Amino acid sequence: MTGLAPDQQQRLLAAARAMLDKAYAPFSHFQVGAAVLTLRGGVYGGCNVENSSYGLTICAERAAVFAAVAAEGPGMKIRGVAVCALHQGKDQPASPCGACRQVIFEFGSQAAVFFQGPEGPQQATISDLLPGGFRL
Ligand code: THU
Repeated sequence: MTGLAPDQQQRLLAAARAMLDKAYAPFSHFQVGAAVLTLRGGVYGGCNVENSSYGLTICAERAAVFAAVAAEGPGMKIRGVAVCALHQGKDQPASPCGACRQVIFEFGSQAAVFFQGPEGPQQATISDLLPGGFRL
């Protein structure tokens, strides 16, 4: 369904998990890790970074997408994104928020998204998660 081979999915999920330790989440204590697989085959991670001025917080998904652009430049295209979350040491369901869906959509409307749903692992395309994404 997603066009990602099982080893690519595993690599992406492992990269997202590896970011959990890096999360700066002293306010919510909700640690999020994300990783982006690009068309070129690069994998880039990101974590949430909170701030005393709460609204300045950046989500893990956007941090990962921005890292991918910074590494590969404006032509970067996303094949897949994995997201995982921890709260007080326990895995938590977490799908990308609306803002992050729009940012992922910008760089690949068919990107595969892997995340933990309320009933276990899920995958969907970003266009399924964000119907009618905005384009300028
Ligand atoms: N968060 C993410 O990193 N990604 C999401 O898709 C939703 C929420 C972060 C932001 C904040 O640091 C914490 O989770 C609680 O909202």
